[in-house]
Amino acid sequence: MNLIELNHHNGISKIFVNKPYQHLTELVDEREFVVITDTNLIKIYQDFLWKFKTIVVPAGEQFKKLSEIEQIYQKLIDYEVNREYCLIGFGGGVICDIAGFVASTFMRGLKLINIPTTLLAQTDSAIGGKNGVNFLQYKNIIGTYNQPDYVICDTNLLKTLPEKEIRSALAESIKAGLVYSEEFFVYFENLNQKISSPQNLISIIFEDDILENIIKTAVQIKVSVVEKDEYDVSNRRILNFGHTIGHSIESIYGMRHGESISIGMVTAARISNKLGYLSDYDVERIKNLLSNFGLPVDFIFDINLVMKLIEKDKKRSSDSINFVLLERIGKAKIAELSLSNLKNILNDLY
Ligand code: NAD
Ligand code: GLY
Repeated sequence: MNLIELNHHNGISKIFVNKPYQHLTELVDEREFVVITDTNLIKIYQDFLWKFKTIVVPAGEQFKKLSEIEQIYQKLIDYEVNREYCLIGFGGGVICDIAGFVASTFMRGLKLINIPTTLLAQTDSAIGGKNGVNFLQYKNIIGTYNQPDYVICDTNLLKTLPEKEIRSALAESIKAGLVYSEEFFVYFENLNQKISSPQNLISIIFEDDILENIIKTAVQIKVSVVEKDEYDVSNRRILNFGHTIGHSIESIYGMRHGESISIGMVTAARISNKLGYLSDYDVERIKNLLSNFGLPVDFIFDINLVMKLIEKDKKRSSDSINFVLLERIGKAKIAELSLSNLKNILNDLY
């Protein structure tokens, strides 16, 4: 078990990598917590969850919305929750976002423990305190910053996860390498040498301590970035690499988060290249790695529809956006890009 600490404005968020999730009750008295989970997980983990006060949300991105949050508030009132209570988010990125949002708003703030059950949530979304919910077609447009007191990442939870969810999640870990650590990107390239086809990637990832290494390194990178810019006013934005276009694709086409980010990253890499930063060779390396891992890279999207959503993007100020580019693999750069320029580049590229 490894402990990684994230220092934030209000204390320390403790992130355990490979701590058995059953040890939750060592951290908090079970009489004083409520678990938020989804309809898939309640079935798979009923042996663990049945004994706790639980709120079950329908599984899926489309339920990360305010009407679900209102129902959760009602159930917390029914459970007579007071300010001493702790909320436990037991689920993927959707549930951790929902639990974080509820924990920061109900009674102006409850303690929060995340037990992320997807690779995406263990490597990214459960860490760092951002909690977003969707409104209309806009992703994560309503949200708060609220750091969890603890995060318990247990790789055993990932054994019940469908393969396509593991594959999709790797996109965010590859992103961590792209924006912050060439060494981590090369780790994935070396892993790629070991696989004969995208199909056997997942069995290799579950061998030895590969999964644990990926989670540990991705968490360390996220912690380093977030500690320097908790409120996302400067360099934390590098974590949004591939997300401006990726989020729009996710909203329009309903793809998995990681799959959309994979397409968004290849597009952002090509834009970086077009603007004279990233080399042709590095664009190919990125595309090859994602594609060999079975992630989509060549999806043709509707540029007008994507641009329409970007215009409403919460990161936009006036007629330009902060767009994350790559100078090289392992080094990101935030540039202000006018919307018209972005649209022209996309039309040139596709
Ligand atoms: P998800 O939460 O929808 O989970 C994917 C599916 O896997 C769901 O059907 C879920 O029920 C199921 N599942 C989860 N754990 C399982 C397990 N152990 N065994 C079997 N099935 C399991 O998707 P996700 O990819 O984990 O998260 C995506 C969400 O995360 C998006 O809403 C995205 O916006 C958000 N996100 C947030 C941040 C942040 O910083 N807050 C960062 C990245 C992504
Ligand atoms: N997932 C981007 C961030 O946490 O800032």
